[in-house]
Amino acid sequence: AQNRLLIKHGKVVNEDEITEDDIYIEDGVIKQLGRNLIIPGGTRVIDARGKYVLPGGIDPHTHFEFEFMGAKSVDDFYQGTKAAVAGGTTMIIDFVMPKKGESLIDAFYEWRQKGDDKVCCDYALHVGLTHWNEQVKKEMEALCKEHGVNSFKVFMAYNFMLNDAELYSAFDTCQKLGAIAQVHAENGSIIAKNVEKLLAKGVTGPEGHELSRPEEVEAEAVNRACIIAKQVDCPLYIVHVMSKSAGLALKQACERGTRVYGETLVAALATDGSHYKHECFHHSAGHVLSPPLRPDPTTPQFLMNLLAQDALQVTGSDNCTFNKAQKELGKEDFSKIPNGVNGVEDRMSVIWEKGVQTGIIDPCRFVAITSSNAAKIFNIFPQKGCIAVGSDADIVIWDPSRTRTISAATHHQAVDFNIFEGMECHGVPEYVIVNGRVCVDEGQLRAVEGHGRYVDTPVFAPYVYDPERVADLKPVKNGTHDDSLPEHFQNKVQIEE
Ligand code: URP
Ligand code: ZN
Ligand code: ZN
Ligand code: ZN
Repeated sequence: AQNRLLIKHGKVVNEDEITEDDIYIEDGVIKQLGRNLIIPGGTRVIDARGKYVLPGGIDPHTHFEFEFMGAKSVDDFYQGTKAAVAGGTTMIIDFVMPKKGESLIDAFYEWRQKGDDKVCCDYALHVGLTHWNEQVKKEMEALCKEHGVNSFKVFMAYNFMLNDAELYSAFDTCQKLGAIAQVHAENGSIIAKNVEKLLAKGVTGPEGHELSRPEEVEAEAVNRACIIAKQVDCPLYIVHVMSKSAGLALKQACERGTRVYGETLVAALATDGSHYKHECFHHSAGHVLSPPLRPDPTTPQFLMNLLAQDALQVTGSDNCTFNKAQKELGKEDFSKIPNGVNGVEDRMSVIWEKGVQTGIIDPCRFVAITSSNAAKIFNIFPQKGCIAVGSDADIVIWDPSRTRTISAATHHQAVDFNIFEGMECHGVPEYVIVNGRVCVDEGQLRAVEGHGRYVDTPVFAPYVYDPERVADLKPVKNGTHDDSLPEHFQNKVQIEE
């Protein structure tokens, strides 16, 4: 029967341990875990011998059907989530992006309308704060209390960036609501000046993109965001950490006691800024995103090491895909190239290749950085992000012995370019189970439009610092290799009594 499933003989990987349990699934939920399970007749059995059984990937950073810089990203909620499922991701979190001055609630409903009937897997929404005033504050409260939102993204760059005083108020509001603040950390004022200067000098091609936003401009903003958030005790999540300097700034802020998490992108872990020098405009512009990929070729491994050390906790794709023809908007002026790259489909394979296959992280840490940590930070753990009785049956049966070669010619995304073109990856999802339904079956994609649901992300109790309580907090277990977590991570775990 469609709604009953038994997965046998696999190595079940959670963020804290690997076990050899069988998994019985009924009506979209994991009902039993163990050996020699007693199950009803007529249940479909999948043999996972020799394979890993992982919690489905959670990609906490996508922009489907997003109107940005004069273009609309081509992967919509159907194509985008279908591609996600094909690659082993069973939940995405997209960003509601209100137009400057638009009501947050109206924008939220626009995004629900784009997503609800189209998603092939579950999804949730962050909300961007593209301007700041009293109305925004009120709407943030309504979004938290009535619409299942617990995270807001602020921008320190682009023409909708907030100034330091506005950031302070936005963080303070998040803190009081029990929400988490996400930050796009780049110094927008410096970038604007650099762009002006470069264009005046005749630097108009994609190489100008990275030159205008060097890594210290990213690191400065990370540092400033951390300092501002610390004043009001707001938990912070730095999206798309793209450089060594930014990673180190974040790590140092953590060591000073800032409650901050870091997300890096699959793009940053597997490609670099050398592509901006490529002679073909489509190729170089195809790699333009912000913050940019870095010319320092040691950056990808450095960021993977930060993930291994728990100085970064999460990986996303920032999938925001524009076709070659759309990238041509910036043919004469690099600052007009629509910003964004692919990654929602390939994130799991590419991180497995660059992280596990190289030996930098183990399969448990892979699960932590591709699924469990995002679920914890956005407060949907253990419904999502783990294989346990009662959890949603979002599961990937992963074959580490098989390989595939990434190409725009064969990917499932709508976009006509792939920044991982030609990359060979170990690790192929042989089965992908989404809410109990087999949506990749022996490698065949059978995603179903509208099968996913909107998932509420509840707020946390507003954090109150109490040195007495720190000792009581249950540490987040974090992979077989590391039982002694850095204290900052323990302190950040919110336990409601
Ligand atoms: O270049 C990027 N990152 N495009 C998407 C928008 C954003 O800032 O995340
Ligand atoms: Zn951003
Ligand atoms: Zn080319
Ligand atoms: Zn983004």
